[in-house]
Amino acid sequence: MTDPVTDRSELAGLRVDGDRLLRRLDELATIGPIDGGGSCRLALTDEDRDGRDLVVAWMHDLGLDVTVDAIGNVVGVRPGRTDGSPTMTGSHIDTVATGGRYDGNLGVLAGLEVIETLEAHGIETEHPVAVAFFTDEEGARFPPDMLGSLVYVGGLALEEALDVVGIDGAVVGDELDRIGYRGTSPCPGPAPRAFVELHVEQGPVLEAEGTTVGAVTGVQGISWTELSITGQSNHAGTTPMELRHDAGHVAAAVAVHARGIAARLNERAVADGSPDRQVATVGRLDLHPDLVNVVAGSATLTVDLRNTDEDLLREAEADLAAFVATIAAEEGVEVAERTLARFEPVAFDDRVVDVVADVATRLGHTVRRMPSGAGHDAQMLARVCPTGMVFVPSRDGISHNPAEHTDPDDLVAGADVLLQAILTLDGLTLDRTDPNP
Ligand code: GLV
Ligand code: MN
Ligand code: MN
Repeated sequence: MTDPVTDRSELAGLRVDGDRLLRRLDELATIGPIDGGGSCRLALTDEDRDGRDLVVAWMHDLGLDVTVDAIGNVVGVRPGRTDGSPTMTGSHIDTVATGGRYDGNLGVLAGLEVIETLEAHGIETEHPVAVAFFTDEEGARFPPDMLGSLVYVGGLALEEALDVVGIDGAVVGDELDRIGYRGTSPCPGPAPRAFVELHVEQGPVLEAEGTTVGAVTGVQGISWTELSITGQSNHAGTTPMELRHDAGHVAAAVAVHARGIAARLNERAVADGSPDRQVATVGRLDLHPDLVNVVAGSATLTVDLRNTDEDLLREAEADLAAFVATIAAEEGVEVAERTLARFEPVAFDDRVVDVVADVATRLGHTVRRMPSGAGHDAQMLARVCPTGMVFVPSRDGISHNPAEHTDPDDLVAGADVLLQAILTLDGLTLDRTDPNP
């Protein structure tokens, strides 16, 4: 440990150890490795457990007070001069099955790096600083996404979350027990005084305009629906077209229609000069019996709709529901709908957004204020404390793909912005105001 820094003005020159951050990112990525350089650590699998164990070991190495709550969220706290709520950072280390190296991991390991930098320079903050990783941010195995942070802020009852059944039939509570991460800290957890999360953009905007830092203004609304279609399986050669009850046809028609909804809303947005863009994705589609010469008797598909404008998102949902009813009647199939996730658009706290933008500018980076297209734990924390996010560019805007890449200089730049944002927030009085009344 070097001499303690006592002069606050010296803090402005403090920088993270970029090599240490990159080394940790590489090491975590070796757990659940997949072809192409990414990772597969679906929530609460053995790989997730191994990733958790590694990060928890790093937290202990740093002398943090580590707690695990009843939904498996892990929080490591470094004390401040005064007790009370911490300034919190963090993200997630679970991945989709085709995950990259940085989605979530960057935010957690940059948080550790911030704390190690404070430690190495003997810097005492006024308030405690916490780094957290939240359970099942991705929602790819257990819906909804952001499950752990949603429970942390009291948005979903613990008992309900523990009963969630995954796409493989596993149950959250059982899996938490199995991997040893059903902790004892209560849910909901204590509200931090502020939350700021570093994340890769996962979209093309920053790279396309050559900007290094995104000061994230909020997160678009998310609507996930699962449709289970029941028709009648029959012989593909002998069944006349007009006599079919083809679940595969209905599923395919819904997928095409979902894209049409986005196209129609976006054409209107362009005509109106509105920035609100609709996206629509059918990411899962299972047919049964899934054979070349059998009309599909049943189909399950998911529809992911997102928009920064809540009214437009509702319009998209209503359009989808009307289409499903029409095509189901036409084809003579039954459709059961299940909402897997539904979160309204979230606005971050202007004060935190300003801190991120000002710090990035002071560090000499180009900055853009922008909404997030992806869901993040920060959107849940925004319910209980002043919250913001830092984005760094994603090469070719690719994410949820092992090819996900961010330039090492940008990863380190993001961690430096996170460090300085946390130090700045540490010096602010932050009364709670709600940007999402
Ligand atoms: C979560 O990563 C999401 O935006 O789907
Ligand atoms: Mn993420
Ligand atoms: Mn993700």
